[in-house]
Amino acid sequence: MKTQVGIVGAGPSGLLLARMLQLRGIESIIIEGRSRAYIEARIRAGVMEHWVAALIDEVGLGERMRREGLVHDGLEISFAGQRRRIDLKGLTGKSIMVYGQQEFVKDFVAARLDDGLPIHFEAGDVSIHDVDGDSPKIRFTDKDGAPQRIECDFIGGCDGFHGICRPSIPAAKLTTFEKVYPFAWLGILAEAAPSSDELIYSNHDNGFALHSMRSPELTRLYLQVSPDEDINDWPDDRIWQELQTRLTQDGGWRLNEGPVQQKSITPMRSFVCETMRHGCLFLAGDSAHIVPPTGAKGMNLAAADVRVLAGALTDFYKSDSAAGLDHYADKCLGRIWKAERFSWWMTQMLHLSPEADGFDRRIQLAELDYITSSEAGAKSLAENYVGLPFD
Ligand code: APR
Ligand code: PHB
Repeated sequence: MKTQVGIVGAGPSGLLLARMLQLRGIESIIIEGRSRAYIEARIRAGVMEHWVAALIDEVGLGERMRREGLVHDGLEISFAGQRRRIDLKGLTGKSIMVYGQQEFVKDFVAARLDDGLPIHFEAGDVSIHDVDGDSPKIRFTDKDGAPQRIECDFIGGCDGFHGICRPSIPAAKLTTFEKVYPFAWLGILAEAAPSSDELIYSNHDNGFALHSMRSPELTRLYLQVSPDEDINDWPDDRIWQELQTRLTQDGGWRLNEGPVQQKSITPMRSFVCETMRHGCLFLAGDSAHIVPPTGAKGMNLAAADVRVLAGALTDFYKSDSAAGLDHYADKCLGRIWKAERFSWWMTQMLHLSPEADGFDRRIQLAELDYITSSEAGAKSLAENYVGLPFD
């Protein structure tokens, strides 16, 4: 097989990259390790910055998102027995779109297959070769076990944090930074109507909790737990009891409860690989960086990388200019580090650290009070949450 851009991974990064290239007349082939059913069912985050929703419209795939997605003009922060609203729209003029990442994945996969364009699902033993030269290759075994090879000009390393692209770069050439947090999120998807119109981020003496949603019938909820927590120690009753305690601390109301469709525990880390390019290989999305989910930045940062990469590849093919490719990492890293800062800041402001003492706890409560009562404080949170402007 031969193509212009070989893309490893059919997550939001790989699918968006392929779609943007397609619309600019650039060919690609996507290789995905999992099955279509698996990636379409995988539950991930669900908050899109205003410009990501606009980009999805721009690439022609916004129809279902506009119909089923939920536009939110604000969010709520609960702490010290009260709940306060951050008026995102009033402070920034922008809203966010709540639309599950797997719905995005479904829309993009369907459009690509409808257009007769290739995604090789259930690819095994994926490896990349000759990225130092100008004709890199991707090798894999297809779902029938037959060996395959793709020759291309460039490789999009869109295979997430645990993929093979980043580890294919020689360790001596990698510059990485990491912070692992002493807590994790236990997330559930419940068949229950959301209990509030907006997201509620709650800081409670028992730990952090978040109320989010996927539709008028489905609630997404999270609890801070310890990273070595065993999910089997969290029967549904215990989860609901803890969610009720942490999320309704402002009193006088109860969360709607319902059957739990899915539950899982996710560790939290911040990670940046500043080496986003190695020869013909370009890393985008989670393969290059991870944020703790508190700021809802994961999918948005992935889209921001892809926006730059698609532009640079277009300049290369259509204007014979490699300048965009040469500056890919520099162009992405400013936004990446600002999102890393914001996600780290939201995380430390809202979670209870096992290392925190009484002084730290009072500083945290003072910061929550400040951020929710000062217009300057609230505006700083809001402008980061809805997405900082591009340069
Ligand atoms: N070969 C082929 N595909 C692979 C391989 C491999 N060796 N390793 C991983 N993949 C696939 C995964 O199965 C997944 O579908 O690459 C895809 C990577 O997708 P994501 O992990 O979703 O990463 P990305 O597309 O960068 O999207 C970032 O996803 O994890 C969330 O919160 C994160 O919202 C952020 C977004
Ligand atoms: C989600 O709906 O899954 C979600 C929302 C906000 C976050 C993280 C996750 O900060």
